[in-house]
Amino acid sequence: MTDRESKREIPFARPLLGDAERAAAQRVLSGHVLTHGPEGRAFEAAFAEFVGARHAVATSSCTTALHLALVAAGVGPGDEVIVPAMTHVATAHAVEHCGATPVFADVSAETGGLDPAALRAALTPRSRAVMPVHYIGLPCAMDEIGAVAAARGLAVIEDAAAALGGRFGGRQAGTIGTAGAYSFYPTKLMTTLEGGMLVTDDDALAEAARKKRAFSYDKGLGERAMPGLYDIEDLGWNYRMNEVQAAIGLCQLTRLPDFLARRRANAERLHAALAGLPGVTLFPLRHGAAESCCFCVNLTLPRDGSVSRDALMRHLQARGIGFSVHYPVALPFSRYHAARNHPAAEAFPVARWIAAQTLSLPCGPHLGADDMDAIAAAVADFFQEG
Ligand SMILES: Cc1ncc(COP(=O)(O)O)c(C=O)c1O
Repeated sequence: MTDRESKREIPFARPLLGDAERAAAQRVLSGHVLTHGPEGRAFEAAFAEFVGARHAVATSSCTTALHLALVAAGVGPGDEVIVPAMTHVATAHAVEHCGATPVFADVSAETGGLDPAALRAALTPRSRAVMPVHYIGLPCAMDEIGAVAAARGLAVIEDAAAALGGRFGGRQAGTIGTAGAYSFYPTKLMTTLEGGMLVTDDDALAEAARKKRAFSYDKGLGERAMPGLYDIEDLGWNYRMNEVQAAIGLCQLTRLPDFLARRRANAERLHAALAGLPGVTLFPLRHGAAESCCFCVNLTLPRDGSVSRDALMRHLQARGIGFSVHYPVALPFSRYHAARNHPAAEAFPVARWIAAQTLSLPCGPHLGADDMDAIAAAVADFFQEG
């Protein structure tokens, strides 16, 4: 490795914001409408069209979109919602914000997505909804999950936080269940700084989510006969997206096809270069009808711990190669959940393996083929150096 190569900086993620985003933000800041205005409506319409959903409801984050989707689908106290044991804590927190109980189910060792057999085993008479999390961008087995949900009358709330652009059988991840939620956090597929989007084809769910997003006012700003006069219909929150975020989101959405294409090319190159390393499991970029949006290239080391993830992390860090971990704790074993549910030490074996031994490598559009080659070479060195 040359000195120059050894100093290469390859961040895990870097938001790509340019002149168009800066001009859009400036346009909003130069006007008087800073929230619930035309930029938000235009962003929602363009996003709904992009993913092929009837409705899109812009929110302050994916977490708030998930919460709104669950509440608007009728989930409440006494209900159980099946959540994969391997996900970001937001998925389970959203359930608890409704007063409902997350019931964890293990994930597939092939894909990291919710295992349909584990879903079936987790069902009880109190089950009300299921939340397939499209793990690192690869859609779950939505046909099997959908069949279980239909048989039991469950709402399907897709956590597509990191799956914008992923597809299942040609349909966009997030648009297959009752409702879906995306994240626009800076490391995601596109960004609005912070932000999220709920999508659904269900008119009543969309209407309920819109109201609850803004305090459950009976009349929105534009609908009031007299300014300042409204009534409150229900419990609600302030989960709105502001106009600067929406204007930036509109710009990012026009760039999204290019971002996704560059991600795919990078991911395929890196995936091919890493395939065949002894003991390394790579979650697939395609699986059955599912096609990943290539959020990252995820490498998982042997379950027996014979290869140390810490050592690989130190090796990559020393070479300036960024990485992340999705996710560092199997949720039932997080301090918060373990203290309440006391899971058996041997429970959720796949989620525990992933938490302990996975590493997410970068493939975002801020990087190119040379970067992929440098990452692959650094990983290969690690295995050669033993
Ligand atoms: C699977 C999953 N769901 C939800 C979230 C929360 O997204 P946000 O930060 O937009 O609330 C994340 C964040 O990374 C995530 O990975």
